[in-house]
Amino acid sequence: MKKKLLALAMAACMALSMTAFADETEGETASAPLEVQTVTPGKLTVATSPDFAPYEFYAIDEDGNPTLAGFDIELAKYIADYMGLELEIIPIDFNGVLTELATKSVDIGMSGLSPDPDRMDAMDFSDIYRGGGQSLVTVKDKADTFNTFEAVNKPEVSVGAQIGSIQETLAKENSPEASLVSLVNVTDIISELLAGKLDAAYIETAVAESYQKNYPELEIVLDVPYDIEGTAAGVCKGNTELLMAVNEAIALAKEDGTIDKLYEEAEALAAGEKYEGMLDDEGEVPEEAESEAATEAVTE
Ligand code: ARG
Repeated sequence: MKKKLLALAMAACMALSMTAFADETEGETASAPLEVQTVTPGKLTVATSPDFAPYEFYAIDEDGNPTLAGFDIELAKYIADYMGLELEIIPIDFNGVLTELATKSVDIGMSGLSPDPDRMDAMDFSDIYRGGGQSLVTVKDKADTFNTFEAVNKPEVSVGAQIGSIQETLAKENSPEASLVSLVNVTDIISELLAGKLDAAYIETAVAESYQKNYPELEIVLDVPYDIEGTAAGVCKGNTELLMAVNEAIALAKEDGTIDKLYEEAEALAAGEKYEGMLDDEGEVPEEAESEAATEAVTE
């Protein structure tokens, strides 16, 4: 009986997927995106900086293998599917994402990017696909000391931010007197905060909250005002058809509830075993990071 049901279900699925296929080839071409030009024909090449859960990170499976995961990664898949393109993701540090876009070496950057006007000479921006805010973060022991902008604006105070990020600009604006430590990865900023080498850091709120789950000693002390709240895709400057197609895909994902679903799934996945940062040349989690994780497990 069970077998029969399974066979029926499979037949139904096949019929459905064949209808979907038929629809696509017959009627739907009119609403499908324009012919887009990409860096590699047939592919959508996307740069991302995987130190930014739940947006982008490596999920670690039971065998310890890392897989690129997160909200931006899943949305990139959705956008590539929408355009009928194969997806190629280039993991690179955040400043690299900006450079790849500026040099038109990739089609889009999906990296928790804020559509900051200062970047608009180097790239176009899609519509915003997720809101968000900025925070000042420190550790519990220091939370009573570094909880005002005044307190983090003194030469003896060290303040961290990611190189090339809007947080680096926010640090310069809000803590001009402090000693600014700009680091390549958000992961390094977190390690330095925990090691007591940094007093405070400017970090995206959702990302700070995600790190907090692994490191409860982190404390968000202040909301940092920033005019351009939210995340967009950076699109290779001047590629209007691509920009339009990306916006169409985003609009569809908002409309059909995909955006919220993908974000929730990414948050859930990020609560599990993960690694944030770049893999080594063999595509594995670097050894120091592994031993750090092991030490944590021991001390917890
Ligand atoms: N939203 C900030 C910006 O656009 C930070 C983004 C950092 N992204 C990352 N994957 N590390 O500057």
